[in-house]
Amino acid sequence: MNKNIAVIRGDGIGPEIVGQALLVLDRVAERYGHTFTYTSVDMGGCAIDKWGDPLPETMLQKCVASDSVLLGAVGGPKWNDVPGNMRPEKGLLRLRAGMGVYSNNRPAKIWPQLADASPLKPSIVEKGIDFLIVRELIGGIYFGKHETVSEDGKRVAIDELRYSEEEIRRIGRIGFETARKRRKRLTSVEKSNVLDSSRLWKKIIHELAGEYPDVTLTDMLVDNCAMQIVKDPSQFDVIVTENMFGDILSDEASMITGSIGMIPSSSLGKTKCGLYEPIHGSAPDIAGKDIANPIGTILAAAMMLRFSFDMDKEADAIEKAVSAVLDGGYRTGDILSPGCKQVGCKEMGRLIIENLP
Ligand code: IPM
Ligand code: MG
Repeated sequence: MNKNIAVIRGDGIGPEIVGQALLVLDRVAERYGHTFTYTSVDMGGCAIDKWGDPLPETMLQKCVASDSVLLGAVGGPKWNDVPGNMRPEKGLLRLRAGMGVYSNNRPAKIWPQLADASPLKPSIVEKGIDFLIVRELIGGIYFGKHETVSEDGKRVAIDELRYSEEEIRRIGRIGFETARKRRKRLTSVEKSNVLDSSRLWKKIIHELAGEYPDVTLTDMLVDNCAMQIVKDPSQFDVIVTENMFGDILSDEASMITGSIGMIPSSSLGKTKCGLYEPIHGSAPDIAGKDIANPIGTILAAAMMLRFSFDMDKEADAIEKAVSAVLDGGYRTGDILSPGCKQVGCKEMGRLIIENLP
């Protein structure tokens, strides 16, 4: 198959980790007879420096016209003082909205080889950690009006949080459909004891539940969910939640699996053209040192093959190669434990390619 992939290297460690993911994709293409063509897209701080805009319209169009987008990470202290609507992160938000990718899928699964890297007690980890956060990605407080005004000579900041029933229904469906393909348990996470948007959320999710009698639905308040994720993560199968709660809970969920550096994510909307990225940030403190963990991005590339290109065996091959390298005791610094061999970003990429079945 021929696929055109828009590639956003971004800032900080972005170029290094994406570089390794492309080498893996090249090898997969060669091995399985595909042609992947890469179109470079500037987004984030580097686009601000070059174009004065974190995502120029022409760059967004390249993404929309592609078969899928692979992204490293954006942002860094260099752009801390630019106005809110011109920040590197705003480029990412505009990309997500422009592509219409409302459903963000973030797995929290422990690799058995990394059980020691989890900060949780072995007695908790042993019960199993294998759940998925389905995060609404293009609505809620991220996309409401943000403003700072002056009232009686004092500054007041306002961020608007709104959800329409359609926005809730379409992500709710993804939650139910995803649970249906797994262990059939869905936890809907909200703050309905305080927020109107959460009360509507809960109502719509319960309306949908009638269509999915085979899925067991549980409601959970977000603060309780944060607690349950560290107390007994084995209780979760699929969590569906709104944008900001999903942002926060997915960082927490990644940490209990050992390292945020291991977790990929997919974002999809109405079409097969998806956005694939690791969930971690641009880690400017370690950029350019060849010590970043490229596995989150490499696994994101595998997700792209699976969900957007229907290349299941190619995706399996990448995941197996990652597992084999971990079995071999190779670790980047973030997942290092005693007795393992520390490798850098490039060496980790090379080992994964070498272990492709
Ligand atoms: C994420 C990130 C982004 C978000 C930032 C970079 C805007 O934290 O993908 O989780 O908050 O969505
Ligand atoms: Mg986040």
